[in-house]
Amino acid sequence: MLDHLQPQPPDGLLALIRAFHEDPRADKLDLGVGVYRDESGNTPVFRAIKAAERRLVEEQTTKAYLGPEGDMRFVELLRPIVFGACDPGARLTGVHSPGGTGALRLAAELIVTARPGARIHLGLPSWPNHAPLFRAAGLEVVTYPYVDIVTQRLDLTSMMSALEGAKAGDAVLLNGCCHNPTGVDLDLDQWDAVAEIVARRGLLPLIDFAYQGLGRGLEADAVGFRRVLDAVDEALIAYSCDKNFGVYRDRTGAVYAKARHAESAEIVLGNLAALARVNWSMPPDHGAAAVRLILEDAELTRDWRSELDGMCARINAVRAALARADDRLAFLTRQSGMFCNLAVPKGAVERLRSEHGIYMAGSGRMNLAGLQVGDAGTLVAALADVAALPASRAVAA
Ligand SMILES: Cc1ncc(COP(=O)(O)O)c(C=O)c1O
Repeated sequence: MLDHLQPQPPDGLLALIRAFHEDPRADKLDLGVGVYRDESGNTPVFRAIKAAERRLVEEQTTKAYLGPEGDMRFVELLRPIVFGACDPGARLTGVHSPGGTGALRLAAELIVTARPGARIHLGLPSWPNHAPLFRAAGLEVVTYPYVDIVTQRLDLTSMMSALEGAKAGDAVLLNGCCHNPTGVDLDLDQWDAVAEIVARRGLLPLIDFAYQGLGRGLEADAVGFRRVLDAVDEALIAYSCDKNFGVYRDRTGAVYAKARHAESAEIVLGNLAALARVNWSMPPDHGAAAVRLILEDAELTRDWRSELDGMCARINAVRAALARADDRLAFLTRQSGMFCNLAVPKGAVERLRSEHGIYMAGSGRMNLAGLQVGDAGTLVAALADVAALPASRAVAA
């Protein structure tokens, strides 16, 4: 039977990591892998996570099973950070998940359970895992153009017409902030326009919120999606702590649902738990336990927030340095998060790698957090050399 399986394409990013490590050049730059890097090129463990982990080693008395909902205290403590004053109280429920990916999978399966054959509208380009994950969960994926990477602008007209054309009950994937791969987020007027359509047409928003705090700041990054949440009766939120707590491999996230009534929230919770049970039985505990210890402790929370603010400031300093180095990159300062996606000509990514030792995804997505402020000029010169800088007219403000 196993002979019937088809070979799967190799993971492009893993091949990129390998090629980068094997490259002997001392001045090589890794802008490929989507993790935060500090000024020394490291992806450090947060001080607060280290402190929480020490406490866990000392104080944890058991590793006995939790339920399929995972660490519900963690899920509760995260709520004020995610929802702030827009928390819908008893109409909101949620469970702990293995990262944002697990949260998205659970959300997708919940939609399919509630409405077999449901569709989800997805703006492109998008995180490459979105469409296959949704299809694997049984959703029909309908795509529309979200960003024009030549002009580096949101394609609001296409987005609005996709939403206007959606059927009542369709789901819509919305990125909370720091769009991966383009960095192009909705401004508040655009969030309001989306909120109005989604509510009027009876669509179900699924908010992918994987980078809170890495765009404009913890609170500012949440303002937009909360406008949608306020406008609708039902919504799903897939949250990741893997980036903003730096616990990537510990797989830490949560999926929340706003239901029409408190009673339906109870039923949603039961369904989320049942779906978790058949997927992973219960989520991995360690990352969520460390995050919980931080959020239970005012001093550790302060330290986490200050380290996160520092990361956010560094990403924005890199954006500003690139914009200063060449005004054709000025658009970077109106975008947010770690990523940008240039419309690179054919062969340019390969030439950047072979001739300049600069590694990025084949799509032209760059992780700006992989760059040091002092290397902005080097990157701009290399981009110019392979004709990968945008034409200034195309990206004019
Ligand atoms: C847009 C987006 N959503 C979700 C995720 C999933 O994050 P996690 O690593 O927590 O599963 C990622 C990870 O890169 C992402 O970029």
